Amino acid sequence: MKSTFPLFPQSASSLSGDVDLLFIAWSAISIFFTVLIAGLILYFMTRYRRRHPEEVGASERAGLWLEIGWSVVPLVIMLAMFVWGTRVFFQLYRPPADAVEYTAIGKQWMWKVQHPGGQREINTLHIPVGQPIKLKLASEDVIHSFYVPAFRVKQDAVPGRYTSVWFNATKPGVYHLFCAEYCGTEHSRMIGSVIVMEPQDYETWLAGGAAGRSMAASGAELFQSLACVTCHQAGAAGRIARGPALEGLYGSQQKLANGQTVIADDTYIRESILTPTAKLVAGWEPVMPTFQGQVTEEQITQLIAYIRTLGPAGNVSAGAQTTDNNSPPSAGPAPQQDRE
Ligand code: CUA
Repeated sequence: MKSTFPLFPQSASSLSGDVDLLFIAWSAISIFFTVLIAGLILYFMTRYRRRHPEEVGASERAGLWLEIGWSVVPLVIMLAMFVWGTRVFFQLYRPPADAVEYTAIGKQWMWKVQHPGGQREINTLHIPVGQPIKLKLASEDVIHSFYVPAFRVKQDAVPGRYTSVWFNATKPGVYHLFCAEYCGTEHSRMIGSVIVMEPQDYETWLAGGAAGRSMAASGAELFQSLACVTCHQAGAAGRIARGPALEGLYGSQQKLANGQTVIADDTYIRESILTPTAKLVAGWEPVMPTFQGQVTEEQITQLIAYIRTLGPAGNVSAGAQTTDNNSPPSAGPAPQQDRE
């Protein structure tokens, strides 16, 4: 069907069938009622037309049950549509627990992708088939939107905060990746491909490129080179801690100096790196300098990946997905080296 009459994009994720079914059902319901209402209007126009100039209109009353029927039936249909749509929505926005986290950063005008093992790509994303993938999205400049029609997913990448999208590709192949938010002169060229591979091909592909360090390892190195370690590690080399220790921080509740409480999630940690005084932790002086302009969005995600490994809710398994350099290289282009 798709070659002769491409009404729909390819369907290649675990949820694309559900999205299509919802779309088709709602279109059918809409068309049914549009035709019904338009037909009734035409019928009543003819049936109750004025037959001679002196005719005076008389009021018609519908039966009680008819009135109740046309109120209750649409209500039930609407509620069913609401429940169904909500279910699909939650499925689309709640990644399963075993999803592996990748990062994609939108930038005028490219998508920079990083694999959990540290491999980087630009405008391409190689993934294994049948593996739920959570893509953490950020932007370095303006709003972009990560859109893969074949997976039926679209999510904005918004400067200043993290968003995410998840999918589980069901068919190996090459699928279009678009930026779906007008983001400047070359918006239309901010396109790429998602390459879905059999797991063993993916492993081979990973091994073929410069393996790179894992996100967390890069973050650990930045933690040293940016001298975060001088304030955030008490006792190290006899230093006095000037900032809170970060062990056990990720995902925990933090008491702030203003009495509020926040959850130390990605957005909070990012903000604390860029605007340290915005949410000052109770008991500490506002002595941390801003790192605005000193770290890229990509480096911030690496720092967060590192802090995440310090626990407690750390997803250390993502860092363990490093590559096996003994496998023979082949299967598609190798991951690109960083070329910023
Ligand atoms: Cu990025 Cu449009």
